[in-house]
Amino acid sequence: MTTSEILGKLPALRVLVIGDVMVDHYVWGEVNRISPEAPVPVVQVLRESYTAGGAANVALNLAALTARPELVGVVGRDESADRLKTLLESHGIDCARWVALPEVRTIVKTRVIARTQQLCRIDHEGPRAAYAPTRDPAFEARMEAALADTDAVIISDYAKGVVSQELVSRVIARADARGVLTAIDPKPARHLEFYGIGLVTPNRHEALELAGLPEPGVGESYPLDEVCRLIHERFGPRLLVITLGADGMAVCRNGKVECLMPTVAREVFDVSGAGDTVIASLASALAAGADPVSAAKFANLAAGVVVSKMGTATVTPEELRAAE
Ligand SMILES: Nc1ncnc2c1ncn2[C@@H]1O[C@H](COP(=O)(O)OP(=O)(O)OP(=O)(O)O)[C@@H](O)[C@H]1O
Ligand SMILES: [Mg+2]
Repeated sequence: MTTSEILGKLPALRVLVIGDVMVDHYVWGEVNRISPEAPVPVVQVLRESYTAGGAANVALNLAALTARPELVGVVGRDESADRLKTLLESHGIDCARWVALPEVRTIVKTRVIARTQQLCRIDHEGPRAAYAPTRDPAFEARMEAALADTDAVIISDYAKGVVSQELVSRVIARADARGVLTAIDPKPARHLEFYGIGLVTPNRHEALELAGLPEPGVGESYPLDEVCRLIHERFGPRLLVITLGADGMAVCRNGKVECLMPTVAREVFDVSGAGDTVIASLASALAAGADPVSAAKFANLAAGVVVSKMGTATVTPEELRAAE
């Protein structure tokens, strides 16, 4: 399947994203003096901006690709959640079934940036238990309804509390029964079992952890073949795509590396969020009927575009066509 054929199918594709919803908040300013109170810079704020983070960024990526995303996660009943919902809905993302709990604080990551230099990050985040979606008695029914109403499910785990073993097992069982694609961007430290998942997209380090292998020592090369074989034995994913940062990605099936794709990025400005672009584009291409290698090419192209952009971590069909 070509990029253009994949793009043609996306507007009809419903994709459910379940995971840790976050707000990325940026404070842009300048520093002209050191504080008299402590040896720290004083930032004069020029402007602030907000964008979607975590699972919400995966949904935003799907929307930019013109697919039809629904987002399920846990937020508070606060200004941050309202602002995020307005942003997501303005991009056509369905948030009607997400869980908004009164005693929860929406996760916000604030970066303070003076000109181009990040000075610090301030996180607003509650304990993991606060973000268990089952705290809302209506959640089970809503999730069943969401799962019955989609062409693909992406689990976006940032280890903040939404994604539990119970949730993963249920999503896989329900989606499999309906022949719906399942995909996970895993956090290996959580030790979740997702045997038989459709797609898993660890980065280089996460893949080692999933395989149970240590970081290679100085001068040792990355044990790609072994990583691929061990992940297949332990998790049996139908498709494993290991993202390799500047080295692109490895497409693996049945425990073997099927192809190594070098990155197509020409200039690299901002690599943050590239993982979200990869899982959004790869899962939607597969659900649109693309074969694994065509889907990975599509995702590699999308990731190449996203790392060459400053500020936004999403890609549009026009940008993909222009990059081909
Ligand atoms: N420095 C880079 N140069 C070129 N391409 C890159 C670079 N970093 C990332 N990419 C592209 O983005 C894809 C995903 O990147 P990476 O392997 O860093 O994922 P990740 O660690 O999950 O990212 P994230 O920080 O978003 O979680 C790569 O497969 C590649 O196509
Ligand atoms: Mg990642």
